[in-house]
Amino acid sequence: MALSLPLQLLMLLLSQFIMAMGGVPYHKYQEPGTISDTDEDLTFNHYARTCPNFEAIVHNKVKDWISKDYTLAPSLIRLHFHDCAIRGCDASVLLNHKGSERWAKASETLRGFQVIDDIKAELEKKCPKTVSCADILTAVARDATVKIGGPFWENAYGRKDGLVSLAKEAELVPMGHENVTHLIEFFQSRGLSLLDLVVLSGAHTIGRSQCGIIQERLYNFKGTGKADPSIDSKYLNFLKRKCRRASEYVEFDPTTPTKFDSMYYTNLQKKMGLLSTDQLLYSDSRTKPIVSALAWQPMLFYQQFAVSMVNLANAQVLTGDDEGEIRTNCNFVNH
Ligand code: HEM
Ligand SMILES: *[C@@H]1O[C@H](CO)[C@@H](O)[C@H](O)[C@H]1NC(C)=O
Repeated sequence: MALSLPLQLLMLLLSQFIMAMGGVPYHKYQEPGTISDTDEDLTFNHYARTCPNFEAIVHNKVKDWISKDYTLAPSLIRLHFHDCAIRGCDASVLLNHKGSERWAKASETLRGFQVIDDIKAELEKKCPKTVSCADILTAVARDATVKIGGPFWENAYGRKDGLVSLAKEAELVPMGHENVTHLIEFFQSRGLSLLDLVVLSGAHTIGRSQCGIIQERLYNFKGTGKADPSIDSKYLNFLKRKCRRASEYVEFDPTTPTKFDSMYYTNLQKKMGLLSTDQLLYSDSRTKPIVSALAWQPMLFYQQFAVSMVNLANAQVLTGDDEGEIRTNCNFVNH
């Protein structure tokens, strides 16, 4: 009986996975009744004629950068998330002018911009004015995932780069202090489901966080002057030793920090989630059964991560000529 809920979930997840892998074509969401002749959908062969080596170029660059600095892999995956989380995947996170998303507090620890710039420069040589920065971010996130042992998936391309980037919007990206309702609503308003929320949070199986974000959990939880009771006591001691200063870094997954695996969920079951938003996924009745299913079936996480990353990458994208452009430099809009 104890397994019946996870089993049900397993069936649900598998059916979703099979549907997604069956190549159900992606279509941009349109309001019923609207007609727009400049809109195109994302497609799997978008650059087949115009830049056939696009994915190979990205792949090689990502491989080179990550073999030089392994910590770039998680940073590049996160960069793509922060892009898609605000105004859809439109490379708004890359615009670098005063008051842009990049200058927000929530963007302070984003990294990997130089990787994107390097790839863009190469692409401008090989196929000028063709590949959008948003598509580069999407391809890079996939290749970074594969490079650290995660799943492969096919990306559809054809995103346009946005013209607007506002720091105050970037501050809306969840930073670890939110409640689960807030997270669910944040994801839902971007077309992402409860399942996507829990599965994509599994990206925290790799990478690291600045200690400042968990300071209150360690020393003054909700103003009690004590630690968050939902932290395992040994893990708490470990974190206190590791986080002497707020500017220090601590890895998300204390067990297998550099491996793409389902240990994130196992850790939550052992009260070893790093952020409060991680641990809460295992105490909220809406998300807990999904955490259990993913901890119980590592392959399920592996496969569903690919599906949810596609959902993320296709969320609220711009495709029409009237909606965005192909930037020639990812840092600035064209003139
Ligand atoms: C569900 C809400 C989420 C919250 C509250 C959250 C919060 C955070 C925070 C606070 C950090 C550490 C930042 C720092 O101090 O450097 C972080 C890092 C990271 N996040 Fe999330 N995140 C969420 C969702 C996601 C999603 C959907 C992805 C990707 C699919 C993701 C991927 C990552 C990765 C890979 C890192 C490590 C970055 C690195 O090592 O440079 N996160 N996240
Ligand atoms: C969750 O957070 C939202 C704001 O982000 C707040 O309005 C709501 O009251 C919170 N819910 C609970 C149960 O604390």
